[in-house]
Amino acid sequence: MGRRGPPPGLAPTGPVVGDGAQPGHPRPHAQRRRRRERRRTDARKPFAERTRPQLPCSAVDIDDPKDVVRRGYDALSRHYEQSYATETKYQPWLGALQERIPPAATVLDLGCGCGVPVARALASAGHRVTGVDISGEQIRRARELVPEAEFRQADATAVEFPAASFDAVVSLYALIHLPLAEQPPLLARIATWLRPGGWLLATTGHTAWTGANDNWLGGGATMWWSHADAATYRDWLTRAGLTVEGEEFVPEGDSGHALFWARRPVAGE
Ligand SMILES: C[S@@+](CC[C@H](N)C(=O)[O-])C[C@H]1O[C@@H](n2cnc3c(N)ncnc32)[C@H](O)[C@@H]1O
Repeated sequence: MGRRGPPPGLAPTGPVVGDGAQPGHPRPHAQRRRRRERRRTDARKPFAERTRPQLPCSAVDIDDPKDVVRRGYDALSRHYEQSYATETKYQPWLGALQERIPPAATVLDLGCGCGVPVARALASAGHRVTGVDISGEQIRRARELVPEAEFRQADATAVEFPAASFDAVVSLYALIHLPLAEQPPLLARIATWLRPGGWLLATTGHTAWTGANDNWLGGGATMWWSHADAATYRDWLTRAGLTVEGEEFVPEGDSGHALFWARRPVAGE
């Protein structure tokens, strides 16, 4: 995957963390040259990949990946917001979503981050937005930034909602932080939260990968991702009882993600 994962075909790099320089010792010339060359190559990659080597999970000792993700976003909430032009990128998706849902629709933003741009755009268009995020800092900022929406700090896989309570569920770049085994049951629960005819708009992995970055966005915190490939997500969505109405590749650097439009069928469809 792209910004939130490794370059495609990444070879295991081994458990080397950092650049190898010893504190207080000048770097040898060859090492400086290698670093300059790496910076030049890295300048063509998305920011997430530039900050440190991405390590496959076998190379990183991670006992509790969800806790790593939660602590990572607690530390990197602002780094994340400032690193990506999500406002521009999401605009057409949110526009298309609003053509499909009724006025004053109920929308769940699962893995809402700091509430910007999704919750803010939808709430200011008059929709009733509930945001859920595992990170306390993301939720704290979301409440400040989007006071007209409602936010809950919770693990998406544990949060409860009544059946058929949302016209739409939006989950952008969040499913990819969940352990793989927990993703199909979550998709099945999302399907029950949707009203018949309701929409799920979600980004997923495009190629399968699980791994971590020990200094994501240069912010000094570890981040962890896990995702299947797009064909698997299509299958999971279908098994969850949703109809996949659209799928596109969202490029990012030299890789990317899949974006799905899936709908809960109405009776008789
Ligand atoms: C890449 S950010 C995306 C934020 C927002 N959806 C956006 O696109 O701007 C992923 C978000 O998912 C949240 N997240 C990750 N795992 C989660 C979980 N198990 N339950 C709830 N939120 C989670 C993270 O805390 C983070 O805020």
